[in-house]
Amino acid sequence: MNNKIGVFDSGIGGLSILNELKTMLPHENFLYYGDSKNCPYGEKSDEELFEITSKIVCYLKSEGCRLIVIACNTATTRCMKKLRETFNDLIFVGCVPAIKLACDQEYKNILVMATPATIESERTHQLVKDNIREDQKIYLVPCFGLADAIEKNDSVRIKNILNNIFFEYKDKNIDSIVLGCTHYPFIKKEILGVMPNVTLLDGSKGVAREVRRQLESHNLLNKSESTGKVTIYNSLDESVINS
Ligand code: DGL
Repeated sequence: MNNKIGVFDSGIGGLSILNELKTMLPHENFLYYGDSKNCPYGEKSDEELFEITSKIVCYLKSEGCRLIVIACNTATTRCMKKLRETFNDLIFVGCVPAIKLACDQEYKNILVMATPATIESERTHQLVKDNIREDQKIYLVPCFGLADAIEKNDSVRIKNILNNIFFEYKDKNIDSIVLGCTHYPFIKKEILGVMPNVTLLDGSKGVAREVRRQLESHNLLNKSESTGKVTIYNSLDESVINS
């Protein structure tokens, strides 16, 4: 397989990004690494996270990937800088909470859902500082346990966590919710069930556009006219799915 693009996340979350990538870049080949064995990333220390993610990057590199998509807000905000410094022969594209998108679209009361590690990160706080306008409010909400509950498809736990999280925001006229974790697009319906009058925003299209830009500028776009191959590996049961 030529010009494979590596994509990884702590589990199924990054598949929401992979779907967007496949739509925008149908001729590319993808190797997806779902690290369910180490999920959740969002409650780990930076040291642990770097150790885990650098092993994944080594593996993807050994499989021939030159461009790696960090399909995880937590890994991007906590260790993309160090990964770039360590693997300076690779191209990295990360994903961060779509705070810029929410601010540019002039929402007034923006709630950002993400893992505790993403919410506490310097990168997230910088995004708020750089983009917030005078008439906007941004609420940063750490969602303990939510990515893990989604990963395990535990609908009761998902419902309880959402009810607890949104309880204190019911009267804040929230008009938009930024899904700052790639697992959250899989529970859009459940989120809208508790917060029906909001627009949900995520950055997956922006990530796919950035990947296309990087492939173009490094002359790495696949020349083949046929549909690309996708391989999905999961670290929990070491399963491989090819399509
Ligand atoms: N899906 C990831 C993110 O975007 C990680 C979630 C987790 O493992 O805690 O942050």
